[in-house]
Amino acid sequence: MAPVTSLSDSVHQRLAAALSAALPQAGSADPLLRRSDRADFQANGILALAKKEKANPRELATQVVGNVVSGDVIKDVEVSGPGFLNITVADRAIIENLAARHADGERLGVPLKENAGITVVDYAQPNVAKEMHVGHLRSAVIGDALRGMLDFTGEKTIGRHHIGDWGTQFGMLIQYLFEHPGELAPAADVDGEQAMSNLNRVYKASRALFDADEEFKERARKRVVALQSGDKETLELWQQFVDESKVYFYSVFEKLDMEIRDEEIVGESAYNEGMPETARLLEEKGVAVRSEGALVVFFDEIRGKDDQPVPLIVQKADGGFGYAASDLTAIRNRVFDLKATTLLYVVDVRQSLHFRMVFETARRAGWLSEDVTAHNMGYGTVLGADGKPFKTREGETVRLEDLLDEAVQRAAEVVREKAQDLTEDEIQERAAQVGIGAVKYADLSTSPNRDYKFDLDQMVSLNGDTSVYLQYAYARIQSILRKAGETKAVAHPELELAPAERALGLHLDAFGDTVFEAAAEYAPHKLAAYLYQLASLYTTFYDKCPVLKAETPEQIENRLFLCDVTARTLHRGMGLLGIRTPERL
Ligand code: ARG
Repeated sequence: MAPVTSLSDSVHQRLAAALSAALPQAGSADPLLRRSDRADFQANGILALAKKEKANPRELATQVVGNVVSGDVIKDVEVSGPGFLNITVADRAIIENLAARHADGERLGVPLKENAGITVVDYAQPNVAKEMHVGHLRSAVIGDALRGMLDFTGEKTIGRHHIGDWGTQFGMLIQYLFEHPGELAPAADVDGEQAMSNLNRVYKASRALFDADEEFKERARKRVVALQSGDKETLELWQQFVDESKVYFYSVFEKLDMEIRDEEIVGESAYNEGMPETARLLEEKGVAVRSEGALVVFFDEIRGKDDQPVPLIVQKADGGFGYAASDLTAIRNRVFDLKATTLLYVVDVRQSLHFRMVFETARRAGWLSEDVTAHNMGYGTVLGADGKPFKTREGETVRLEDLLDEAVQRAAEVVREKAQDLTEDEIQERAAQVGIGAVKYADLSTSPNRDYKFDLDQMVSLNGDTSVYLQYAYARIQSILRKAGETKAVAHPELELAPAERALGLHLDAFGDTVFEAAAEYAPHKLAAYLYQLASLYTTFYDKCPVLKAETPEQIENRLFLCDVTARTLHRGMGLLGIRTPERL
């Protein structure tokens, strides 16, 4: 692998050198480089620096210009306004940089980061014996994209699906199964749909019994105690619920075109054994205190009604442990056993108070520090097209599979309308890639902390900021490359570039910088925005610059080359977000 220095970094280095030559006392000052409409880049850092050093900004800027080594990367640099610098990059440098990226293959010359750490990503965490709904969508989609981006930068990621597989609700379910053996088919014998319908049936029947029959209620309560004390038979029945649910989870994740690994499904129950130790450590360190029999942690800043402090409950007065204890124990496991340097949680913003308290507790205990940090990417709610919380017409929560099926159906209509030479099988395959891509992209192109509207009409539209638009751009490029036949994509750095070629080339070169920024900020929407702009710049290039009908053979080859780098970049970028790029559409 041969890493390529981005043009932005090259320009930055040259300007920084010129700046410190002009103003040695300022040390290594940042010229503050930005992409700009007026030139390729603009440096805005000189004003503030001149002010600080009591120099005249325009004079300083002029001096910097005199010091800039130009010729290779920088073609032109001039002073503008009160002391900005406008920088134009040489055509040759653009094509040479892209040629080096092209030659590098899969990574497109993007370097791996130094000092990579280990990030444990907690995402895609449905609950056992319960249906997945639209609320589970974002965690899975965002978490998967974050992992894709982080892995690409060289960070090592470990997934944790903290599924809800423990709690008092299992008493009722297990007791029912105990009294009605055979109601759940063995996990090996069912598909996802059957698994969920079995679970639903058992859930409804046991709930009805629980509400109507006081004696059953009592037996269910005893069953909770048996479960908590590790009774063998009870645990076996519990395991059946977990296994049946996993069959169902896998079927939904497959529909979502997402790989979930069994060893990364580590639910709440996995931390049971460590919870007493967690409680002991917190009490010993004085982080948690006994209050009315319970073990709790108080926070000055966190208060509820009547200004009463709201505590985090580590252990209830009856000795039981809950959600917080499992999360605190999971932190110990992730930090000390998995050696994580970052803990990332992709969980609904409505749980942000829970995580604030859990993280602060872990900090006080010394499990989190400046070197090991935790973040919750609290994401917003999925709204219906009308802007209200997403519900069915009957006012029920929407099942995730139904939603995905509908997206694929809609996509099939779009694909069929456009398809000239596709068979029905091909249409169905594309429809899945387009429909699921549309759902993922709509989610990822919105800043995670904002709510977003689930509007299928908009999502599968060919125009506008949609994945379909990006997928079409990709497929169109592939079709041009096929049409080119024997004529190959070859870089010609000696050619003068048209404005649309320059704009496209400069943007292509910024791919790696964009992924790094988006990964560091946990902001997949920045990568999505980059890709959308890439497709738009490509469209302009395609309108303005004939490819196969260009004037000279060299120009044809060079434009095919720009097409090919664009396609590879789109493919890579979409892939990091978990979205397919079909070769034909
Ligand atoms: N299963 C939980 C829910 O559906 C989400 C778990 C989030 N992760 C965590 N470590 N608490 O609400």
